[in-house]
Amino acid sequence: RIAGPCGMVLFGVTGDLSRKKVMPAIYDLANRGLLPPGFSLVGFARRDWADQDFAQIVHDAVKAHARTEFREEVWNQLAEGFRFVPGAFDDDEAFERLRATIDELDRVRGTGGNHAFYLAIPPGAFGTVARQLKEHGLADAPAQGGDDAPWRRVVIEKPFGHDLASARELNAQLDAVFPPSTIFRIDHYLGKETVQNVLATRFANTMFEPIWNNNYVDHVQITMAEDVGIGGRAGYYDGIGAARDVIQNHLLQLMALVAMEEPTSFDAEAMRIEKQKLLASITLPRRLDLSTARGQYGAGWAGGQKVGGFLDEDGIAPDSRTETFAAVTLNVDTRRWAGVPFYLRTGKRLGRRVTEVAVVFKRAPHQPFNATSVEDLTQNALVIRVQPDEGMTLRFGAKVPGTQMEIRDVNMDFAYGGTFTEASPEAYERLILDVLLGDPPLFPRHEEVELSWQILDPVLERWEASGSPETYPPGTWGPSSADTMLARDGRTWRRP
Ligand code: BG6
Repeated sequence: RIAGPCGMVLFGVTGDLSRKKVMPAIYDLANRGLLPPGFSLVGFARRDWADQDFAQIVHDAVKAHARTEFREEVWNQLAEGFRFVPGAFDDDEAFERLRATIDELDRVRGTGGNHAFYLAIPPGAFGTVARQLKEHGLADAPAQGGDDAPWRRVVIEKPFGHDLASARELNAQLDAVFPPSTIFRIDHYLGKETVQNVLATRFANTMFEPIWNNNYVDHVQITMAEDVGIGGRAGYYDGIGAARDVIQNHLLQLMALVAMEEPTSFDAEAMRIEKQKLLASITLPRRLDLSTARGQYGAGWAGGQKVGGFLDEDGIAPDSRTETFAAVTLNVDTRRWAGVPFYLRTGKRLGRRVTEVAVVFKRAPHQPFNATSVEDLTQNALVIRVQPDEGMTLRFGAKVPGTQMEIRDVNMDFAYGGTFTEASPEAYERLILDVLLGDPPLFPRHEEVELSWQILDPVLERWEASGSPETYPPGTWGPSSADTMLARDGRTWRRP
């Protein structure tokens, strides 16, 4: 699938997201031959730059972060389509210059009036930029009937608001300018191969779906752990925290894929219907003090290095109450899932970097063995390893060779590395290509975003009203309250 004639306008060219993800992904797509030959990239920022300065910024970002080999000829062809428009978001003249630049590119690069506006900027500015695009005639493509009518699309990234009320406001600002089908909200987890494979596993096979319910499943654990701290992202992270940064988007989307019913097809509307139904059926336990946990990493040793705590990070207020670890218990009020808790957790400076979904099954209703035979047998589990070491593990009991009947857990393993020779596209490559192709199934819709906030808001409000998060030592699996949270249900977290 190769994108047709088009270009992209990137707002927020100096940010981390642009440098580390968007620019390298564009180069990688070009290098793989998936962009049209006349692709154009316009940078827009409040900098006194010429086109060459912008090209240099992209060049450095590509050199540092692209996944594919640097090839002069690919680069040169791509760079011919680079333009820079200096200006502030509220500067009318700058948007007029942007319009003239796009017209010029349509003429000289053959972009055909097709442009995606990528807002890699703080959400507070989404409304202003959307309004400016509208007022300067950029939000609507030049009118022309037929299948090849030119298009305009907008790409935004989380945080989609800070809570339900602000998410609604943001959605309203965007909806006022762009029709829903032209708004692409990036949740990069949905661009990951292993995340897309959740639906393939469930719905392309016969053996999982019959046991994918409360007759067989005891509980589900979804973990997104990072060993790093917040790095240089204090400005973004402080006041946001782990629940808003990761649970509201990545983990709830992952949970929706694990728990939703079979969609009638994989098109965007069919997917939205099922994800939305699932998200709408998620409820919180009554006692939020017992069913959630949060923490903040302290100073200590991690990975053989002495590291500062969250409160020592540059740019973090010494009395910040922002959580760097969050865990929640969620119920799904449906016939399939009633009584099966979903435990979601995420944190920084934990034991290791790992994202996984563990579907943990009930014990066999009867075991014709004596107690000592099954001492080392735990519960069957299917573990979907999202990253790293992508793959799946099925854990079940088997007889230990010998004269005794002794049963122990064993693992059956599927590893992407050992199975597929095909390379996985990086999440941003996949998603940016989908934007340019106008292919929306992997992008959460407005309704899903609002439902996710609706789920999380009561937790955030409770935390807001209840003092500072518990400190946890770096390199561990989070605060003790997270363990207590599961222990109350007679369960323990996996130690991946
Ligand atoms: C981002 C979060 O969405 O995901 C970051 O804002 C986090 O805080 C990152 O580090 C992790 O992404 P990945 O793909 O490395 O799991």
